[in-house]
Amino acid sequence: MTFEEARAQFPVLERVAYLNAGSMGPLARATAAAMADRARRDLEEGRSGKPYYEEMQALRNGVRERLAALVATDATHMALTTSTTNGCNIVVGGLRLGAGDEVVTTDAEHPGLLAPLHVSGARVVVAPTTGAPAADALRILLDAVTPRTKLVALSHVAWTTGQVFPIQELKRETRLPVLVDGAQSVGAIPVEVGDVDFYTVSCQKWLCGPDALGGLYVRDPDALRIAAPTYFSVETIERDGAFVPREGAQRFDSGWLGVPSLAGLVAALDAAPEWRFERAAEAAARCRKLLWDAGLELVTEPAQGTLVTFVPPRDPEETVVRALEADVVIRMLPGTGWCRVSCGYWTSDEDLERLVAAVS
Ligand SMILES: Cc1ncc(COP(=O)(O)O)c(C=O)c1O
Repeated sequence: MTFEEARAQFPVLERVAYLNAGSMGPLARATAAAMADRARRDLEEGRSGKPYYEEMQALRNGVRERLAALVATDATHMALTTSTTNGCNIVVGGLRLGAGDEVVTTDAEHPGLLAPLHVSGARVVVAPTTGAPAADALRILLDAVTPRTKLVALSHVAWTTGQVFPIQELKRETRLPVLVDGAQSVGAIPVEVGDVDFYTVSCQKWLCGPDALGGLYVRDPDALRIAAPTYFSVETIERDGAFVPREGAQRFDSGWLGVPSLAGLVAALDAAPEWRFERAAEAAARCRKLLWDAGLELVTEPAQGTLVTFVPPRDPEETVVRALEADVVIRMLPGTGWCRVSCGYWTSDEDLERLVAAVS
């Protein structure tokens, strides 16, 4: 697949410099067509019966296998969820944290991870990584670990600065359970779950899937309590609700997921070219250079994720509105004075030139 062919999958790019996959990725024609086809069949044929159930199950299995492959694991370790937030709640709920326990995290986390940590009842220890060089993050995080620490929970790529955190080194140094928020990494940069214990996937962002689908990698499914069981958790169940869980991570599945959305997600996952990561990294590097050459202050260090954050010369909210008027889509980061650009494998040099013209 050439760059032009890959880009032509996304109709929105014909008009818009769409630079906000960090919130929601662009939708491909094939994704929308698969959703529409499945919705039409549901309308005409109904949503019941053996063939329907078997197709639904095949779609779930197909998504599970594809998400597992994306993070270098196998399907027995992948649960299907609705989002990263959902995955964080499943893990935090299952760990039975409480008073006297501590969780170490960073000051660059999204509410999708941070709010579940807060309601766990453990003390949330926030390591001050923002503003420090990315190379110092490991030391800063290790300094926050105490004998009371029961979990280290952080993003792989920070949604604010695009900074890549050293997740494998953290696991190696602490040997503590590590929960990784993968919302800004899966589909954007190469991911291997390696030794971490839990890793979340958001499908609506860099994977360009329909909304409200996600994944959760669980290294040792037998070791995590099932805090929010669903129909799909259960192999057999007694009259009082006592149940034997299904094998592997599917016991953590979030329940019924929209069948048209699952069909759309399979199409989206199959549409990504092999060269996605190299091309996205090049686009991010080019974005940094163009913003720098235009005299803008950069927040993101070189060679991080695919998010590039900068300090706009005008008010960030006004910057986003003015950019939108020029059909350039970016976002601001509340409370920071910063704007954020998401660079995907589909991002062209012209998109970036339009960005710089709109925000300088
Ligand atoms: C780092 C991070 N975590 C979590 C989320 C929330 O993702 P989801 O909607 O999949 O829960 C976001 C969304 O922007 C994010 O950037």
